[in-house]
Amino acid sequence: MGLCRGVGNAARRIPLRALRESPGGRAASSASAPATKLRVRNEEDSEVAAAAYVHLPFCNKKCFYCDFPVVALGETTPDDARDAHFEGYVGLLLDEIAAQPRARPEVPLRSVFFGGGTPSLIPPALLARVVDALDAKFGIAPDAEVSMEADPGTFDRQKLSAFARLGVNRFSVGVQSFDETLLAACGRSHNLADVYRAIEDMHHVGPASWSLDLMFGLPHQTPEVWESTLAEAIAADPPHVSCYDLQIEAGTPFDRWYEVGRAPLPAEDAGASLFRLASSLLTGAGYYHYEISNYAREGHECRHNYAYWHNRPFYGFGLGATSHIAGHRVQRPKRMAKYRQWSPLGAAFGRRPS
Ligand SMILES: C[S@@+](CC[C@H](N)C(=O)[O-])C[C@H]1O[C@@H](n2cnc3c(N)ncnc32)[C@H](O)[C@@H]1O
Ligand code: SF4
Repeated sequence: MGLCRGVGNAARRIPLRALRESPGGRAASSASAPATKLRVRNEEDSEVAAAAYVHLPFCNKKCFYCDFPVVALGETTPDDARDAHFEGYVGLLLDEIAAQPRARPEVPLRSVFFGGGTPSLIPPALLARVVDALDAKFGIAPDAEVSMEADPGTFDRQKLSAFARLGVNRFSVGVQSFDETLLAACGRSHNLADVYRAIEDMHHVGPASWSLDLMFGLPHQTPEVWESTLAEAIAADPPHVSCYDLQIEAGTPFDRWYEVGRAPLPAEDAGASLFRLASSLLTGAGYYHYEISNYAREGHECRHNYAYWHNRPFYGFGLGATSHIAGHRVQRPKRMAKYRQWSPLGAAFGRRPS
């Protein structure tokens, strides 16, 4: 998501400390962040929900730093068992969407964000059912931004084109690092060859926009390794880049293995200089630093984030997702068993999960 990390769970990656209380807000670096100017589009000024976040929680395996609501399928799970997971979950999503009353006055969605998890794992035919349900219930504006988080190694050109045909016009590619050792140290399910293939596929299919997600402050990540990742990212020529400062989340393997501010993690001032390095290289390469973690070429800022940043209402569907409708923020359960029980009644009546 690029940061464009969808409403609901996506919002959790909004890294400004000031937004920490927003849906699961993931704070970022910090200290020495430059004051960045947000360009707000007038068309986003509506107080009626025109954005929807849909959480697709499946991943091949769980990364060592991740605390998002994720269902790790296991890399050896056979396709039919995977399909059963996807189908069951899409059924829950459809129930939830059907039970969600439309906000008034009725406006079509101008932004839809499929966040995860790894949404690009889902078969396009199943995503089509979710897109159709959203369109039937709310309408999707012809010029809507429809984003999807996509991890290297989980799609090919054919699948990407199928998503594009369904209307997905922005992909957020979770690269994280161009260093093979660091990818393995983070527990990523993809390697560097997958990353280069994913970038080639993006250029081949040519969606209206796409982003590279990177992380800094990783264990053993030197300034030189970070600089080389940034150089590779710039060479890949994406219209948008997100750079997230690693957050050590309670209960993750990284939380057990490392201590914030101590080697092999960077000291706080070293982390700040990694942030400055990103800002200087990316702005030097023509990217506009429009939000603390986000850089875009003109016109490629993520529309979806504005709903969070400007406290606008938004729909949220799926495991752990937050919605903000009629002044009520509702977070769905983060565990699948509880979410199953909760959907769709909680969505219909705005009940908070117990
Ligand atoms: C939850 S992931 C979902 C998308 C995709 N599965 C992926 O891993 O890229 C979205 C983004 O959040 C960021 N992220 C996840 N956990 C993080 C953490 N603990 N600290 C900082 N950023 C994190 C990563 O950059 C990732 O691209
Ligand atoms: S692939 Fe993304 S969502 Fe899945 S475990 Fe890794 S960071 Fe979390």
